[in-house]
Amino acid sequence: MKAITVVPGNPDQVQVSDLPDPPPDPGTLLVQGRLLGICGTDVDIVDNGYGWPPPGRERLVIGHESLGAVLEAPKGSGFTAGDLVAGIVRRPDPVPCEPCSLGEWDFCRNGQYTERGIKELDGYGAQLWRIEPKYAIHVDVSLGDCGVLIEPASVAKAWEQTERIFTRASWRPKVALVTGAGPIGLFAALLGVQRGLEVHVLDRNSSGPKAQLVADLGASFHTGEVDDIGITPDVVMECTGHGPLVFELANVVAPDAVICLMGISSDTRSITLGLDQINKEMVLENMVLFGSVNAGRRHYQQAADALAKVDRSWLERLITRRVPMSGFVDALHKHEDDVKVVVEIGA
Ligand code: BGC
Repeated sequence: MKAITVVPGNPDQVQVSDLPDPPPDPGTLLVQGRLLGICGTDVDIVDNGYGWPPPGRERLVIGHESLGAVLEAPKGSGFTAGDLVAGIVRRPDPVPCEPCSLGEWDFCRNGQYTERGIKELDGYGAQLWRIEPKYAIHVDVSLGDCGVLIEPASVAKAWEQTERIFTRASWRPKVALVTGAGPIGLFAALLGVQRGLEVHVLDRNSSGPKAQLVADLGASFHTGEVDDIGITPDVVMECTGHGPLVFELANVVAPDAVICLMGISSDTRSITLGLDQINKEMVLENMVLFGSVNAGRRHYQQAADALAKVDRSWLERLITRRVPMSGFVDALHKHEDDVKVVVEIGA
């Protein structure tokens, strides 16, 4: 079978390799890869050396945003041949720590978790892959190719966690700001709209389809500086990973606000901050600033449910470019109008 393999941190070493088919493993599903979504983490692996090949190997099969069709399924697994599936990314650590032992690998506490296509486990960028049924998510046939969006939409975790924080008081948030209109930002906006919030999305530029995609959700699109939007958000979903922005956000939010950080960046910006002032503001306004990474099984399910409720043509417009396996490197380089780029596995 063919698979996209990389040596983390070596952009010249990306290859479509011929690898042996996955060996038989009776408890698992055999899946024919169909699509692979590309995100900033893949760029970080290839260009900046984030990511770890399986122990003892130099190459990693990359890819963690998956869609495939089941070829073989064990009896009683809940899956049958022909089903569309997306794979969960993370696996619990072997110790396991308390959250991992309870299936909350997204809260792994000892850092020994593994991640398909990212950390020590081969990913889904292959024509064939195997997966244990408990790590496979059913994709409704009506979603078709848009099922590849389930993994990025598992950012539903961030909303779930945010809502849990809001249960600390009796008032409910009304105005949400999402910073960054990439796929994660657009899903964060979608999930905010589905919760009945007034959603504003801020992005660096208005070129490409993002502004219309936001408008079609019933949210408002803005460019420019946070200060200029003229809103006082109760909740912020930060999806850019631009560090200095976090502190600008702290200045514009409403009292009791929750700011959820979901983006990361390989940049190393530094700025001078009035830390005592920030400390004072956070205390006097009950502010919560928290990070959210990865997703548990229920968050993938929340993502699948959220996608099932959206107009299919809106989802289809998120997939702005398709490349064959041999075009993987091109997929890593953003074009101006890209939202989600996918690799056609097999092509
Ligand atoms: C993936 C997560 C993963 C994180 C850190 C993200 O791109 O979607 O599943 O935990 O990278 O490796």
